[in-house]
Amino acid sequence: MALIKLQINNRSYETDAAEDTPLLWVLRDNLGLVGTKFGCGIAQCGACTVHLDGEAVRSCVLPVSAVGKGKVTTIEGLSEKGDHPVQKAWEEIDVPQCGYCQAGQIMTAAAFLKKNPKPTDAQIVETMSGNICRCGTYHRIREAVKSAASKTK
Ligand code: FES
Ligand code: FES
Repeated sequence: MALIKLQINNRSYETDAAEDTPLLWVLRDNLGLVGTKFGCGIAQCGACTVHLDGEAVRSCVLPVSAVGKGKVTTIEGLSEKGDHPVQKAWEEIDVPQCGYCQAGQIMTAAAFLKKNPKPTDAQIVETMSGNICRCGTYHRIREAVKSAASKTK
């Protein structure tokens, strides 16, 4: 089986995973990058969100062979010291409860704010609505996205 090469968090990786293996499985099981979480496995909850060339994608339904030369960023690579504006806002507002969904929430928010640094409240709600939180931290998530946006203008 040919090795699949991947660029993740500005590092090169190789995996012998089958081509149709979802990227999420490769990240967690083959490469030990366990910050990205498994929730539903069917693109419905957002827990597995990573960036592919800056776009938020659901790694549970993305075959690893489809990544090609694309640059993958996981929560481990969003910033060197955990000080991305979104991460700082999350900390300041103390967003997480159990924390399970939060890496996916942060990755969705970070990709969104990069494209739309001055979002309206409605745009924030719409974008974040695809990320499910079983603990119901939605109010603090919205507050943190607004706070991060105000600091990245
Ligand atoms: S685990 Fe991928 S969207 Fe739920
Ligand atoms: S903080 Fe628990 S699932 Fe979101």
